[in-house]
Amino acid sequence: MISKKLPHIFYGGDYNPEQWSEEIWLDDMRLMQKAGVNLVSIGIFSWASLQPNEDTYNFEWLDKLMDLLAQNGIYADLATATAAQPAWLSQKYSDVLPVDIKGNRLSYGSRQSYCPNSISYRRLGQKLVRMLAERYKGHPALALWHVNNEYACHTPSCYCDNCAATFRKWLKKKYGSIENVNKAWGTNFWSQHYYDWDEILPPRATTAQNNPGQVLDYRRFMSDSILELYMGEKEILREVTPDIPITTNFMSDFKPLDYFKWAENIDVISWDSYPNPEPGYHPGWAALNHDIMRGLKNGKPFILMEQAPSQVNWRPVNTNKRPGVMRLWSYQAMAHGADAIMFFQWRQSLKGAEKFHSAMVTHTGNENSRVYREVEKLGNELKGLSEILDSTVSAKTAILFDYENWWAVEYTPGPSENLKYMEQIRNYYNALFDLNIPVDIVPVNGDLSKYSLVIAPLMHMVKPGVKENIESFVSKGGTFITTFFSGIVDENDGVFPGGYPGPLKDVLGIKVEEFDALEPHMNNKFKVTQYLGKASGEYNCNLWCDVVHTDTARILAVFTEDYYAGYPCITENSFGKGKAYYIATQPEQDFIKEFLKYICRIDNIVPPLDVPEGVEVMPRVKDGKEYLFILNHNNSEINIILPPGEYIDLVSNKIINNTLKLPPKEVMILNQK
Ligand code: GLA
Ligand code: ZN
Repeated sequence: MISKKLPHIFYGGDYNPEQWSEEIWLDDMRLMQKAGVNLVSIGIFSWASLQPNEDTYNFEWLDKLMDLLAQNGIYADLATATAAQPAWLSQKYSDVLPVDIKGNRLSYGSRQSYCPNSISYRRLGQKLVRMLAERYKGHPALALWHVNNEYACHTPSCYCDNCAATFRKWLKKKYGSIENVNKAWGTNFWSQHYYDWDEILPPRATTAQNNPGQVLDYRRFMSDSILELYMGEKEILREVTPDIPITTNFMSDFKPLDYFKWAENIDVISWDSYPNPEPGYHPGWAALNHDIMRGLKNGKPFILMEQAPSQVNWRPVNTNKRPGVMRLWSYQAMAHGADAIMFFQWRQSLKGAEKFHSAMVTHTGNENSRVYREVEKLGNELKGLSEILDSTVSAKTAILFDYENWWAVEYTPGPSENLKYMEQIRNYYNALFDLNIPVDIVPVNGDLSKYSLVIAPLMHMVKPGVKENIESFVSKGGTFITTFFSGIVDENDGVFPGGYPGPLKDVLGIKVEEFDALEPHMNNKFKVTQYLGKASGEYNCNLWCDVVHTDTARILAVFTEDYYAGYPCITENSFGKGKAYYIATQPEQDFIKEFLKYICRIDNIVPPLDVPEGVEVMPRVKDGKEYLFILNHNNSEINIILPPGEYIDLVSNKIINNTLKLPPKEVMILNQK
């Protein structure tokens, strides 16, 4: 359970009462209770309201608010208020504002305009955090700490002189000597050799490409610097309030921070989900992010900290969520492991950059809006679903995911700037999603023993220990799939000597002689030459083709065009008790789906229920009891035949026998009686 104080599904949102009069606060309490709100995130952007100057603090308004929340039975996810520093602080201390890659110091006047390594920002921020922790440590409303906000969202990197000096210290600690830095980065190239530590700079804007090893280390350094920033606040909170859980809200498809490394220091993962509700949106988009978040702490339930009740304000065009969609997507988050459903924000602002971002209470200012009615309905439903708390998702299929691989493969100049790691992950994830096969997202050095199938799309970088991890998984009987441009570089972004796919050669039983990047208007085809279930015949492929030679592997499909026509496109290698597959191109999605269906069947991985297309099924389990989420993403009603038995739908509390009808955007949570 996330908080013993609040043994229910958390429901609420970001609440910014400093934008409103105290009279409105009272109406907020009424409307929150009516909507089933039990938790609000407060103080996220309150630093300027809490501290008018360096010597003066003003906590009175927050005292009042905390008391008011407690009187109304609503809990606080209290923020550390450091997400945006006051103007006076930026003016007074010259090390605070961040510097961009071209050397321009940015101005204040927005938010998150601080350098992660600024001593003054850290010192004053931590002082405020200690005061907040001391002041509210025994307060009955305090349920959760919300450190900062969406770290690195606007300022993923700073290039100031202080960051340069701190980077050198970080390198000294990592490499010990400057010669080791030279070796790791391969500086016998373009005259880049460093003789003195002070010669080393952040990879600032320069004439042509920066050194890829340096860029990779700078990303690691920035992720670590921002983590250190978080740790500074977290340690104070832990010391003063050891029993209050601590979180910081993560983001979707977010590249700058190595969330796996961060997660060890966070009590409960939380994240902000903003799918674009446009026609054609694939619900696998949010599902993958939910699964990444669940994977960060090895399956532990997480908090959906923010989602829009309807439209956002920051896309070029901001479409509304259609009726029923917010509710459906909230249940989707729960289906994938969320134990909390929260929004940005409670009451829609009248001023500021986010005045046209939707909110639970819209500009009508009261309960009379479609959005509020939907929020109210969901909140009151969730009150009855507390028994789902702490149940977990169990999957037999894993996708390996690695932030450093993402950084390396997308910086490397060549062979194709169109190669995007997340897209390659999604090709395989979406196919499994469409097949209703639950997936865990696992780090490359994670424990693979509970999985039957492990997929590592575009595993370009193979870090120490990963070869052994995969070989041991396959030799014990696991099925492993990887794709083109994998097994190419080590953890320093240096190509493995002796040819591709480097350390993956043995398990895959192949050699890759060359790779060919295809222009967007180019493609190739491949022909399946062995029985692969319904994945037979000829398919299109694009983006990339490897020229492959088999060693011990068997050929399952061959390219049919260009100078590598007849060369292997898909191979299978028996290794110990298991099998390893290599897919040397980006096949059309239909193939990936049929191929994975075939592989899953062999591995005895079956969807929890047979359902029509566009229906998502996810099981959560607790104490041997299964909660089967069924979500109809379609715009039409569907029928499903259930295995014999009697079920109860926990959302409607209705008994369901063998057939069920699910209207468009509807959801059920079935429990077999
Ligand atoms: C982010 C931030 C919020 C708000 C929303 C708007 O998630 O954390 O403060 O700006 O975006 O969508
Ligand atoms: Zn800096």
